[in-house]
Amino acid sequence: MASSLRGQTVIVIGGSSGIGAAVAEAAVARGATVVLAGRRLTSGVDNGVRSEPVDVTDSVSLQRLFETVGRFDHLVFTSGPSVRAKTLLDTDLVEAQDNFNVKLWGALRALQQALPFLDEHGSISLTSGQMGRKWVAGQFIKTGINAATEALGKQLAKELAPRRVNVISPGVIDTPAYAGLAEEPRLAMFAKAGGALPVGRVGQAEEVAAGYVLAMENGFMTGSIIDINGGGML
Ligand SMILES: NC(=O)c1ccc[n+]([C@@H]2O[C@H](COP(=O)([O-])OP(=O)(O)OC[C@H]3O[C@@H](n4cnc5c(N)ncnc54)[C@H](OP(=O)(O)O)[C@@H]3O)[C@@H](O)[C@H]2O)c1
Repeated sequence: MASSLRGQTVIVIGGSSGIGAAVAEAAVARGATVVLAGRRLTSGVDNGVRSEPVDVTDSVSLQRLFETVGRFDHLVFTSGPSVRAKTLLDTDLVEAQDNFNVKLWGALRALQQALPFLDEHGSISLTSGQMGRKWVAGQFIKTGINAATEALGKQLAKELAPRRVNVISPGVIDTPAYAGLAEEPRLAMFAKAGGALPVGRVGQAEEVAAGYVLAMENGFMTGSIIDINGGGML
């Protein structure tokens, strides 16, 4: 078993599902002590992995999380809302603000509360998405959130040094993010989106998790955006 994260503590906010859960699994396999955090989790330990409840829209809840865990080495932030594709004209801006509040402001809120506890040789991995640099009509919310996340990742890599800050940008990945769709239309959507890619399929959470592991382990990597999208930006 590889052991590059052995003896290190990783907090995965958004670890209750999808990409975050896969990062947690990969980090455990690399020897890390992992704390999963999300709204649906309760305090406890299952199979050696600790869980804590957190709502990233609430600073007090985040403060409680970091005070409970104490000093740690790597923060992974994968929390994200379910975003409905709509044009600007058709969008309820309050709903759009709620989306930004979870993923963009949630990450900033988490960082503010995390920094006093994050080892100065540690790392922060944020999550964007290919819409941050791919311009698709009806997707201005994803574009706005993800582009801002990528810019902040680079800016914070300078401001928070020597802590390292990187951003992982997934393409279309088969996760519970699409659980709102019934099985048939979901598989049809994956087949269409995947068929348009050079690799011929959509991605799996484990494939994206490998990017977070790289960002945590590679001490020379900071200010980077790691695209894992099956060629979706080509
Ligand atoms: N899947 C894709 O195709 C894709 C593509 C591009 C980018 N991404 C990005 O990748 C990230 C992970 O997405 P995923 O596909 O793994 O989706 P997912 O399975 O739906 O996971 C989303 C996570 O966000 C957490 N979350 C939502 N609201 C929260 C809140 N207020 N406080 C704390 N946690 C909250 C959820 O946990 P709780 O419900 O327990 O709170 C859940 O663990 C998101 O930022 C998403 O935008 C995904």
